[in-house]
Amino acid sequence: MRTVLCFILLFTQLALQAQTTGAETTQPWFHTTTIYQIYPRSYYDSNGDGVGDIQGIIQKLDYIKSLGYETIWCSPFFKSPQRDFGYDISGYTEIDPQYGTLQDAEQLIAEVHKRGMKIVFDMVMNHTSDEHPWFKESASSRSNSKADWYLWRDKPNNWVSALKAKGWHYVKARNQYYWASFLDFQPDLNYRNPEVKKAMFDAVKFWLTKGVDGFRLDMFNSIYKDAQYRNTPASRKAAAENFDTRGFKSSITGSVNQPEDFEFARQLRSVCDSFGDRMLLGEVYGNHQMVRRFLGKDKNDGIGLVFNFEMLRFNFSANYFHQLISSLEKDFANPFMPVYVFSNHDRRRSMKRLHGDVSKAKLLHFMQLTVRGVPCMYYGEEIGMQDARFPYGKALDPIPHLHKAVPRFLVDIVGETLNRDELRTPMQWDSTKAAGFSKAEKTWLPVHTNYRQVNVEKEEHDPNSLLYMVQQLLKIRQSSKALTTGGLEFVDTKLLPKGVLAYKRVAGNEEIIVLLNFTKQKKEFSLPGTFTSILAVNKTDAYSNGKISLDTFGGIILKK
Ligand code: GLC
Repeated sequence: MRTVLCFILLFTQLALQAQTTGAETTQPWFHTTTIYQIYPRSYYDSNGDGVGDIQGIIQKLDYIKSLGYETIWCSPFFKSPQRDFGYDISGYTEIDPQYGTLQDAEQLIAEVHKRGMKIVFDMVMNHTSDEHPWFKESASSRSNSKADWYLWRDKPNNWVSALKAKGWHYVKARNQYYWASFLDFQPDLNYRNPEVKKAMFDAVKFWLTKGVDGFRLDMFNSIYKDAQYRNTPASRKAAAENFDTRGFKSSITGSVNQPEDFEFARQLRSVCDSFGDRMLLGEVYGNHQMVRRFLGKDKNDGIGLVFNFEMLRFNFSANYFHQLISSLEKDFANPFMPVYVFSNHDRRRSMKRLHGDVSKAKLLHFMQLTVRGVPCMYYGEEIGMQDARFPYGKALDPIPHLHKAVPRFLVDIVGETLNRDELRTPMQWDSTKAAGFSKAEKTWLPVHTNYRQVNVEKEEHDPNSLLYMVQQLLKIRQSSKALTTGGLEFVDTKLLPKGVLAYKRVAGNEEIIVLLNFTKQKKEFSLPGTFTSILAVNKTDAYSNGKISLDTFGGIILKK
């Protein structure tokens, strides 16, 4: 009888527990994870040829695990002529010898899983390299078996590429033009041809079968083009609308955000779903309403996540982040989830926008790792790596060579760079030669000159470092339901001094409050309720008996 009673009690307890956490447990893993982006060429060179490789990543997995990031996204390491460093693929199921072998990729997946982490690869579906056998065949005549695999036209229309450059390119053998949304050597595939779709889904399935946990999807809003190739209508708009970075002059073009793209997102999701819960993270452009459409209408049945690149050009102010968070909360409410990203392999590192100020970087991470959303962090941000400055003329990146006429000072004024080499410099591991990245005499890009001051080894041993703080934040995040699955509510701004941003994260009976001072001035104020402080940016940020004190760019996490 006693055993039966115990069983009933236990059962009721479990049922109650499930009820209180019910709302949270329905979230897919990729809505609660944290992402660390690796640019394989620059992470760690295991064989001394000056270029990072897959074995190099494997050797550094324990480091990523010790940081606390749960999911790794690797920029492409598939077979490629490397003219766009892997974003020009010539073999979707082969590994480029510069990075390793298929066995290395399999080992990478296995080693990541062994550590309880996940890994997503980078799928470039929109275009191939012009050296892909598919394109070579397609370009050879108008009557080959792949003649319709790319977008061929007798005459160009008025579309321009994503780089605001010529997008139609002439091929003599066909006396026709092919369309390339990005660079000329990256011809776009024709997804209106079912064979193309099948070939790409087969490549996706190849990697899913190998156990990869999903994909970051390159240029995912360019997959379909207007079936009639209608010209982009003239517009008087001088600038892009709603952060639609592709929208200079007009945000309406037939080469992006077509209705078929949203349907394609759903189809890809169902291909992946047949392998279990896999992450799909789209590189898409447009305003919130537009990019949201890739996720699904009312339920999240499209791709699981999209980037909102507007925040790559963030302003370091409470006001800016208040507006950003509230608009994302509105547009990406449950069952959707926003992604918080402040730098990547294409745009300036966040440190550049923070003028190299480590205390500001700490606050930015404090926010990124405590808001409701998936944080996506580019390698090296955890130690405060900075952009290098290289002459455009010598760039390995093809983009600056496309825009030779643009004077550098103009690009500087808008806070951007055309030369992506500057933000892809090798990871700074320690103070030895080449920052411990490689044993080679010459690395593919020079390491940043500040590597003796800014490196992992130094910061790992410094409890005041950015790296140490990122580690602490990730630990707290992982152990907190409120921070991973809870909702977000702003603390009433009337209770806060100017320049302070504060929000509450709640799940079940766990309540966390995050307070962030975006100003140089010390802020002192009181907050109703009783809390305990669990992490602060500075030693001088404190909570005691309802009184809060935040130092310059200070921050604190409180628990009720
Ligand atoms: C995406 C990638 C970028 C690449 C381009 C072409 O924007 O992030 O690095 O050059 O697509 O594939």
